[in-house]
Amino acid sequence: MNDLNKRIEEYTKKFKKDISEVRDKKSLQEVRNTYLSRKKGLVTHLLRELKTLSPEEKPEAGKRINELKETIQEELQRVEQNLESPRFTERIDLTLPGKKRYLGSPHPITLFQQEIEDIFVRMGFSIETGPEVETDYYNFEALNFPPHHPARDDWDTLYVTDDLLLRTHTSPVQIRILEKKKPPVRIIMPGKVFRKETPDPTHLPMFFQVEGLVVDEGINFAHLKGTLEVFLKTLFHEKIRIRFRPSFFPFTEPSAEVDIGCTLCQGEDKQCRLCGGNGWIEILGAGMVDPQVFKNVNTDPEKYSGFAFGLGVDRTAMFAYQISDMRNFFENDLRFIRQFLQK
Ligand code: PHE
Repeated sequence: MNDLNKRIEEYTKKFKKDISEVRDKKSLQEVRNTYLSRKKGLVTHLLRELKTLSPEEKPEAGKRINELKETIQEELQRVEQNLESPRFTERIDLTLPGKKRYLGSPHPITLFQQEIEDIFVRMGFSIETGPEVETDYYNFEALNFPPHHPARDDWDTLYVTDDLLLRTHTSPVQIRILEKKKPPVRIIMPGKVFRKETPDPTHLPMFFQVEGLVVDEGINFAHLKGTLEVFLKTLFHEKIRIRFRPSFFPFTEPSAEVDIGCTLCQGEDKQCRLCGGNGWIEILGAGMVDPQVFKNVNTDPEKYSGFAFGLGVDRTAMFAYQISDMRNFFENDLRFIRQFLQK
C-alpha cells in the first residue's frame, strides 16, 4: 500500500513537469499516452494494481488514483485549448520595432483647400464664410438673376422651401460681405455648394468652391488676370498653361472662364482619361463685378470697381493629383485617402 501511495505522489509530480513542457499537439499526445494509454498508461497500471490490495485499503487508494486521473484529464484538456488559441504560438520579441498606429489625417480636399487659402493669404486676402442654406435673394436675385431668368437653369438647384435652397455656388457670400463691409475688400470665401447632379467621374451633387472678391477704386481686368495667373502658377508649381475664354455670368461683366492645360497629357493624347482629349480643363469662372451687383449692396459703381472668381476645388484637386474620377474623394476608401497622408 505504501508503495502504491508513493507512486501516486511520484506520478503527480512527474505529470506536472511533463505537462509544463508541452509545446505542441504531438508532445501533448505523448503525455496523454504515458499516463492514460489503455495498455501501458501509468494510471492504468495503478488501477490494475488495486486488485492486489486488501478490501480495507482499496477504497482509499481507489479514490486517490481516480483523483489523479481526473486532474490529468482536466490539465490535458486545458493545455489542448491553449494550444488551439493563436496567442499560444505568438512569442513577444521585445527587440522588434513597434507598430505605428494610423492616427487619421485631414481629408485630401481639406488639405488642398488649405493650400489654396495659404496662397491667397500670402497675397493679402482674408478668409470669410457664409451659410450653406441660402435664400433665393442671396443665391440668385442679388446676383442679378431676375426671377425666371433662363440663366438660373444652369444651376440645378435643390430647394428646401420656395424661398430657401442649398446654395449652388459661393457667390452669395460676396453679397453678404459687401452689405456689411465698405471697400477696399480683398477676400476669399471657401465652402460647400450643392447641385442636383447625378454623380459621375466629373460631377458631384456636393462639392467645394473657393470664391474670390476684390473691390477698390481703379480695379480692372488686368488685376483679375494677374492675380489668377500668380495663384495658378503657384498652385501648380509653374508647370501650367492658362487660357481665358469669354463667358457669361449675370453678376460679372465682362465674364470669363479659365482653363488650364491638361496636367496629364499636355494636349497630346486624344484619348486622355483626364481631359478626354480636349487638352484643356475648365476650373474657374471669373469676371468684373457687374454694376448692378454694386447697386444691390449700396456701393457706388462710379467710384468702385472689382473682380470676382469662383474656383471648383474638387475639380482642381483632381487635375493637381491626376485623379480621373472625382467620386474617389468621397467614397471613403482608406487605401485612396491614405495616399494623401501628411508626413
Ligand atoms: N459662381 C460661379 C459658378 O459657380 C463662378 C463665378 C464666381 C463666376 C465669381 C464669376 C465670378 O459657376
